[in-house]
Amino acid sequence: MAKLFIDEKEKKGHISPEIYGLFSEHLGRCIYEGLYVGEDSDIPNVNGMRCDVVDALKEMKIPLLRWPGGCFADEYHWKDGIGPKETRKKMINTHWGGVVEDNSFGTHEFFELCEQLGCKTYVNGNVGSGTVQEMSEWVEYITFDGVSPMADLRKKNGHEKPWKIDYFGVGNENWGCGGNMTPEYYANLYRRYQTYIRHYDNSAPIQKICGGADTEDINWTRRVLDTCFASPHKSENHGYMDLLSLHYYTVPGPWEHKGSATDFTEEEWYLTLKKALRMDDLLNKHFAVMDQYDPEKKIGMSVDEWGCWFDVEPGTNPGFLYQQNTVRDALVACTTLNIFNKKCDRVRLACLAQAVNVLQSVILTEGEKMVKTPTYHVLHMYRHHQDADLVSSFIEGNKEVGSGESMVAMLSESASVSSDGFINVTIGNLSVSEDAPVEIVLSEKDIKEASASILTGNMNSHNTFDEPENVTEKEFTGMTYEGRALKFTLPKNSVMLIRIR
Ligand code: AHR
Repeated sequence: MAKLFIDEKEKKGHISPEIYGLFSEHLGRCIYEGLYVGEDSDIPNVNGMRCDVVDALKEMKIPLLRWPGGCFADEYHWKDGIGPKETRKKMINTHWGGVVEDNSFGTHEFFELCEQLGCKTYVNGNVGSGTVQEMSEWVEYITFDGVSPMADLRKKNGHEKPWKIDYFGVGNENWGCGGNMTPEYYANLYRRYQTYIRHYDNSAPIQKICGGADTEDINWTRRVLDTCFASPHKSENHGYMDLLSLHYYTVPGPWEHKGSATDFTEEEWYLTLKKALRMDDLLNKHFAVMDQYDPEKKIGMSVDEWGCWFDVEPGTNPGFLYQQNTVRDALVACTTLNIFNKKCDRVRLACLAQAVNVLQSVILTEGEKMVKTPTYHVLHMYRHHQDADLVSSFIEGNKEVGSGESMVAMLSESASVSSDGFINVTIGNLSVSEDAPVEIVLSEKDIKEASASILTGNMNSHNTFDEPENVTEKEFTGMTYEGRALKFTLPKNSVMLIRIR
């Protein structure tokens, strides 16, 4: 039996709700069809936003939405997406499928969506093909409440009051699709562009996100910090950056043949999980560099793109990155989010890629139909960690499971205490063949009340438009508890949330 020791008194940090953010790009059917159908659609909508999707995301407690990209961000010119829809410029989305982008979803629509969702806003600016003036004016257009050319333009376009930008990303993947820059070149541009992201209101300032590395590119992190690091609390603009980003995708195979989202072997299951668990090591490596510049951890890490990247579903546009989502994705989400929780002293923001119909999405749509993926249910279970305090936890007797080169620890866990006084434990069993007897032992507290929910299935079980409830979160009643101890058996391929008081 594995023993999970939790010291509910030892608070290790605060879990920022924004760790549970989602990414939405003008890519495939994420924005159009997925989130936005337009006011004239037969699909029920409010001001063009799909009611079913908005309701589902609210139920999941979405804390933050990142937009408009991704690679798209560095080709996006925001003025094309404002004003009367019939006069908005049409463009080619060169990155994603070469389709026509009619700009009917723009700045006003994004803020309307976030208002409906009740979530924070993360706007990603264009450094690759945009000017400093363009970026600066966008911030003025969105946030300035006085008299100015951009504020006047916003009012003319029907929005009297400004909106709030919570986070602003200065470019995206500028080592690649965002301009193929060297770290020094980007770092100098970053210093310049971020200067003109003004704080026009007196509320909390916009948090600036500096474009970080791809996967293991420690050199990028080091060289960007070399040029850009300044104490975030030094100047009136609280320094150059508040967060530094990192992108890491779990891709089981080589780029040309990443592997199917639904049709995979046990070996591929373990390989995928092993690659997902690599997030821990990657973060440690980037943190080691960040610690040299910023030992006080004033700068947060923003893992604003993470998730599984498989081959697209057969017969779909390769540029749309549409993939199904199975119990394997649920375990990837479980292990990744446990890692983020445990590193919440530095990881302050993260965005699963992406929200709807793209990569490891939480929702899939087809016409008027909508289905919640297994990943959705994991984020729904984990919502209790948002804004909670991480507490110390470790597993004794956590054996290794797997096949060949791909061995992984059988259990992944994290624990927090939320303001309602509950201890929240999330735990996953990564084995495809063995159930795991587990005993949770608290350090001091006698357990008075405990409830749990579980997500489980065969390794490739998934939800379809005809069978949307194949894999869902269900109540779990097989627990016994006495004193400080609680026992249960965690089935293979499963993710569980336990709430203890
Ligand atoms: O999420 C898909 C793409 O992956 C994003 O546009 C880009 O930033 C990353 O390479």
